[in-house]
Amino acid sequence: MSYAHSFVNSTIQLVNAYPLASTLLFGLGAITIARSCYRTFSVLLQIFILPGQNLKRYGAKKGAWAIVTGASDGIGKEFAFQLAKAGFNVFLVARNTEVLDATAAEIASNYSVSTKTASIDFAKADNAAYETLSTQFQGLDVGVLVNNVGKSHAMPAYLIDTPIEEMADIVAINVNATLRVTYSVLPGMIQRKRGLILNIGSFAGSIPSPMLATYSGTKAFLSTFTSALAEEVGQHGITVEHVNTYFVVSKLSKIRKSSALIPRPGPYVRSVLSKIGLPCGAAYSGRPNTSTPYWSHALLDYAATVLNSPYLLIKYTHGLHKDIRRRALKKMEREAKAQ
Ligand SMILES: NC(=O)c1ccc[n+]([C@@H]2O[C@H](COP(=O)([O-])OP(=O)(O)OC[C@H]3O[C@@H](n4cnc5c(N)ncnc54)[C@H](OP(=O)(O)O)[C@@H]3O)[C@@H](O)[C@H]2O)c1
Ligand SMILES: *[C@@H]1O[C@H](CO)[C@@H](O)[C@H](O)[C@H]1NC(C)=O
Ligand SMILES: *[C@@H]1O[C@H](CO)[C@@H](O)[C@H](O)[C@H]1NC(C)=O
Ligand SMILES: *[C@@H]1O[C@H](CO)[C@@H](O)[C@H](O)[C@H]1NC(C)=O
Repeated sequence: MSYAHSFVNSTIQLVNAYPLASTLLFGLGAITIARSCYRTFSVLLQIFILPGQNLKRYGAKKGAWAIVTGASDGIGKEFAFQLAKAGFNVFLVARNTEVLDATAAEIASNYSVSTKTASIDFAKADNAAYETLSTQFQGLDVGVLVNNVGKSHAMPAYLIDTPIEEMADIVAINVNATLRVTYSVLPGMIQRKRGLILNIGSFAGSIPSPMLATYSGTKAFLSTFTSALAEEVGQHGITVEHVNTYFVVSKLSKIRKSSALIPRPGPYVRSVLSKIGLPCGAAYSGRPNTSTPYWSHALLDYAATVLNSPYLLIKYTHGLHKDIRRRALKKMEREAKAQ
């Protein structure tokens, strides 16, 4: 008799001996399986089929403004373009005035919307700088705020090997800028009873990332901050969303080639703006108001939720970052020799 056969036989014997207990167990098993099928189905539905909220709800084509921080390059520049295309006037914020003005001019020549720019260095911004910035937003009907500006480490490094200035800049840009810019636009949004705030996060926030500990911590801040703020302001008709991002081609990621897992900013931002209000891959992750909208990033995020073994991912990330640091140091050595 085969093992399978004897297993079936002994199961039947057990069921006959304990009918009530086995009915309960089978019921429980069926519920568990049905629940995970339902969850997977609903995640796939959100990623591939369901549309997000219409941006008109936030003032598109009605003269409302979209403020984007870090708007002159990468993901932020793409947000500025796509929000202009959707019918928002756009307010671009970053450091380099010339690049900002060139970006604004390109937007104004392609779309019939107004543009404004403000130059600020969020790494150095003090109270006075934030007050000046806030004054420039005054009187504008701000429908959308994209807290996009972000800084990561020059290369993976243990905390004790991280320059203090780098740590301070990362906190100032990723945490302080988000807090202060949000603080200056929220009162107007509450008054107008509408608004969309997108906080651009990272997988480094949901998977604690050794050798990028400071960046990882600031991105986790965005996730928790978003959940808390969303509950505060939901009653005023404002949507707050933490956008969980895996790699995207950009200067920050230092990745130049796109792939299924690593989109260019264009398709990435299109996925964000077409899925507002849908958690997609972040559903069932225990992070309310987080969305992982890009299809491959969403599948990864949902797989991490199902796997439910954070330490495995932390260990894996540690190994990955050791390797990236080793290669980055070698490259620096080669470049130093070549000079
Ligand atoms: N790319 C990825 O793989 C990835 C993955 C996960 C999360 N993210 C997040 O996505 C967001 C955008 O990243 P990205 O890859 O698009 O970056 P990016 O291509 O390097 O663009 C950064 C933008 O921010 C501005 N900026 C940089 N430092 C600034 C400062 N101190 N003050 C004011 N503006 C500053 C830059 O313009 P200036 O230099 O002129 O200031 C530029 O417009 C970040 O929050 C990042 O953490 C990216
Ligand atoms: C904007 O217009 C310029 C020409 O003025 C064109 O080269 C560019 O591709 C356009 N960009 C977008 C995003 O439509
Ligand atoms: C962030 O803001 C706080 C409070 O305004 C300030 O005390 C702190 O110095 C800022 N941190 C950085 C790193 O700029
Ligand atoms: C936050 O998430 C909850 C649960 O998904 C949702 O009902 C609520 O509308 C969201 N709040 C905001 C302000 O986006």
